[in-house]
Amino acid sequence: MAKKNIPLSPKMDFLREELDRLEKQDLSRKLRIIDSCDGPTIKIAQDEYILLCSNDYLGLTQHPKVKEKAKEAIERFGCGSGASRLISGTFSLHDELEKRLAEFKKTEAALVFASGYAANLGVISSLAGKGDVIIVDKLNHASIIDGCRLSEADLRVYPHKNMVFLEKILKQTQNKRLRLIITDGVFSMDGDIAPLPEIVDLAEKYNALVMVDDAHGTGVLGKEGRGTVEYFDLDGHIDIQMGTLSKALGSLGGFIAGSNVLIEYLINKARSFIYSTALAPVQVATALASLEVIQTEPQLQLRLLQNVRYLKEGLQSIGFDTMESPTQIIPVFIGDTAKTMQASKFLYENGIFVPAIRPPTVPKGKSRLRLSLMATHTTVHLDKVLAVFKAL
Ligand SMILES: Cc1ncc(COP(=O)(O)O)c(C=O)c1O
Repeated sequence: MAKKNIPLSPKMDFLREELDRLEKQDLSRKLRIIDSCDGPTIKIAQDEYILLCSNDYLGLTQHPKVKEKAKEAIERFGCGSGASRLISGTFSLHDELEKRLAEFKKTEAALVFASGYAANLGVISSLAGKGDVIIVDKLNHASIIDGCRLSEADLRVYPHKNMVFLEKILKQTQNKRLRLIITDGVFSMDGDIAPLPEIVDLAEKYNALVMVDDAHGTGVLGKEGRGTVEYFDLDGHIDIQMGTLSKALGSLGGFIAGSNVLIEYLINKARSFIYSTALAPVQVATALASLEVIQTEPQLQLRLLQNVRYLKEGLQSIGFDTMESPTQIIPVFIGDTAKTMQASKFLYENGIFVPAIRPPTVPKGKSRLRLSLMATHTTVHLDKVLAVFKAL
């Protein structure tokens, strides 16, 4: 028997009002349901689309070696972890992954969280508290900002990559117990790279800590794919390195890499680590296998770089503004939200899947399409993308 929908209580009318307001401003968000995915292409209701907005940069979610390890982990450990890490959720795979991540990032130790979001929340809110100062780039990811809010520390924001402003804040806050500078390594919406050498110099000069969120650099930047820190040859100069397993590593979860004392502190203090169920063994095995592929198949990184060059040059020759990104995240700047929505719709109708990025993810007037490339996109895919952009 079909159940009748239960009418919404009038006490909840304010929800509808807010949703109507978002709809009127072209800011309403909807879920698109994907029926199948083979990496660079997806199917939605029988129609095929080129996927141009996935963070699976190296295509590892579909790599045969990675899938094989995932199946083995399910057979050996089951599908879930069953408890938080400090109860009975730590398996030998977690330990192995943490050791491998520490080696990969050239730090003493690492700790895996249920997501990158949880890693940022946990590390920031446990390290800094009332009376401390956290200094962030204006374009840092939302999970960093949420971690700062949770910490109750004073939040100071410098304009994007503005080192003069950062130094001014460091000068003004010299009497504070702790100053923590946090920056994205690769900025998630603009695709540009943080001026890490300058940030490290200032941190050393003013005795501040540095944390890098390398969600989008890990697996991609640097000769060995170790990320933004390797790219700038800054191993040993960053106090806290955050990364995610959910992007180039093709899995799910986040991690913090740093000194032994930092990791021991987080195990004892980071609430998003302590009070959340451990990452499932299958996800841990997937990340481990991906790390191995990154180290043994550098051609994937090269292929991604070739794709970036090809698409960026193509878009620029048609006349699109791809901002200043040198990475696999290519913003196509439009500005106006309604026009960005129309562009996304046109692309979708022509077989290209790229949602519009609008406020509050980016500031008002800075709406854009955010294209993200994969090593597994072929020239045929990219030529089709360019042809549709030309028609747009
Ligand atoms: C810069 C940055 N940090 C953190 C995160 C959160 O990582 P996760 O998706 O693993 O929760 C993201 C994800 O979008 C991100 O772009």
